[in-house]
Amino acid sequence: MRAIHALPTDGTTMPHTSGAAEARPLRIVIVGHVDHGKSTFVGRLLHETGSLPEGKLEAVEAMSARRGMPFEWAFVLDAMQSERDQGVTIDTTQIRFKTAARPYLVIDAPGHKEFLKNMVTGAAQAEAALLVIDAAEGIQEQSRRHGYLLHLLGIRQVAVLVNKMDLVGFSADRFGNVAEDFRAYLAELGVQPTCIVPISAREGDNLVRHSPRMPWYQGPSVVQALDSFAYTSLPVDRPLRMPVQDVYKFDERRIVAGRIEAGRLAVGDTVLFSPSNKTAKIRSIEAWHVPAPPREAYAGQSIGVTLDEPIFVERGEIMSHVENPPVLTTVFKARLFWLGATPLRIGSTYKLKLATTEATAVVEAIERSIDTAELASLPPDRIERNGAGEVVLRTKRMLALDEYTANPRTGRFVLVEDHLPVGGGIVSMEGYPDQRQLVTVRATNITQVGHAVSRAARAARNGHKGGVLWFTGLSGAGKSTLALALERELFARGWQVYVLDGDNIRSGLCRDLGFGPEDRAENIRRVGEVAALFADAGFLVVSSFISPYRADRQRAREAAGEAFHEIYVKAALEVCERRDPKGLYKRARKGEIKEFTGISSPYEPPENPELVVATDALGVEDCVALLLRYVEEHFRV
Ligand code: ADX
Repeated sequence: MRAIHALPTDGTTMPHTSGAAEARPLRIVIVGHVDHGKSTFVGRLLHETGSLPEGKLEAVEAMSARRGMPFEWAFVLDAMQSERDQGVTIDTTQIRFKTAARPYLVIDAPGHKEFLKNMVTGAAQAEAALLVIDAAEGIQEQSRRHGYLLHLLGIRQVAVLVNKMDLVGFSADRFGNVAEDFRAYLAELGVQPTCIVPISAREGDNLVRHSPRMPWYQGPSVVQALDSFAYTSLPVDRPLRMPVQDVYKFDERRIVAGRIEAGRLAVGDTVLFSPSNKTAKIRSIEAWHVPAPPREAYAGQSIGVTLDEPIFVERGEIMSHVENPPVLTTVFKARLFWLGATPLRIGSTYKLKLATTEATAVVEAIERSIDTAELASLPPDRIERNGAGEVVLRTKRMLALDEYTANPRTGRFVLVEDHLPVGGGIVSMEGYPDQRQLVTVRATNITQVGHAVSRAARAARNGHKGGVLWFTGLSGAGKSTLALALERELFARGWQVYVLDGDNIRSGLCRDLGFGPEDRAENIRRVGEVAALFADAGFLVVSSFISPYRADRQRAREAAGEAFHEIYVKAALEVCERRDPKGLYKRARKGEIKEFTGISSPYEPPENPELVVATDALGVEDCVALLLRYVEEHFRV
């Protein structure tokens, strides 16, 4: 651990201090196709709002004259940027301007090469966007892509500016056509622009005042549109999330430092760190540049805390309250935007960054691949650069995260390849369980006893070892049929054998559980433990459960140890659906059964099962014969 220098602060005002908050600039991005006039627009807007530094305009005019070039508004921006480039520390992408109502911060400047990257990686957290379209050229590829990106990132305050109206004779018809086209595109995404404004950036029409050259336009000017946007409030009322940035040793104290991304915190609160699942109480809140240590802290603040217990906490964990923790998972769904030069493919591995944590993630499935310019679905074998899609990502380590809709700051991530960000996305847990309950241990003061009868003694008496044959597969794949036939055959041969079957167990031990992701996971946790006990008792257990999640089957394997054999009872979904022995697929297709495996709930096939029994290729008898051979070979002593 390093010594502490200073805690990071970002100067965010406390949400409860009034007055100061009103003066905060609204953060906007300006997007649109190259050459549609973004730079000209910003240059002119700075001028029209009186935001240009004294003498800047004259200097640029003089420079243009010297070089014998006609004056361009875009030069103003260039001049400002090149000046900044000479400074060492100033962020070259940020431009400020002011209207009568409030200040604004353009967090990504037009033409900036890193624009898409900044948007996707969340470096640019915009509250609103202006999307510039050329009236003469109409909607182009990037107009649509940027529209898609705004939608993906959840930026809902969007004013569309139809620029260069001077080039189309200020034609109401032309404006109407462009506006309608783009409105239709956005509508497909479910986005409604706040307004669509016809402008001429170069001539200054409709930037501040209504242009007399477009009397047919009654809507807001650009500045009116800007001033109508709302600040996005800091998520103070959401559950507490503070990703741990670092742990500093300071005197004898350890200070856990980070930025509160959501919620609030008070001295004395019991907090939970995820994924390590450790708890402690907040002893103190440390903040810099304040006269006395605060008793409370809020979203937006960068703080440090000390704890009442010396628990080991490290960068990457998320601090929350015990009552409202983030999700714990090794697999999730994501909607993502792809920037990589090589397409994203199934099986590819990337570094995943989420809040302050990093993990290795593999693309398990691509469920949709979308051409963001046309909104067309592409074959889901890859996602091309500037495309988007829906994927399933799996990590080795347990991750703490949130659904994007529940908590955007801890529900978005970036994928990195060779040190470059190649994609960004948002998290959905749809179809996948929060694994927190499964890994949480509440029992305390426990002392296990050893059995007086050894496993070997039981095996010697039975003539076979105990163990678990874990059948997994889709409903209708033939798990129960094979399990029961195998049980009968083995019993006839004198084996201690017993079938644990989904429908039976769900009538008793697990009758309190439904088919939601968490319930299925708990179902399998219980069955896994029961199967392990049976195996320990010397039985050969044949468990027959869909058990759709890989992580659950892995836990069942860990419960039973070496005695666990995963048997994939494999049949294509179409085959299972054709068989439909219980008529459930038909009902699921009609929407009468929700979250039905294979239809509306995921099934994750085993990666390395000990045995695959393909019931769509072999008859029942052949399958049973195969299983019998396998059992004789592996369990007979
Ligand atoms: S698991 O997903 O939790 O492993 P389990 O094997 O116990 O499922 O139960 C599966 C059986 O429950 C199926 O064979 C079917 O008869 C019945 N069932 C009822 N609803 C569903 C559903 N939504 N999805 C899958 N199976 C269901």
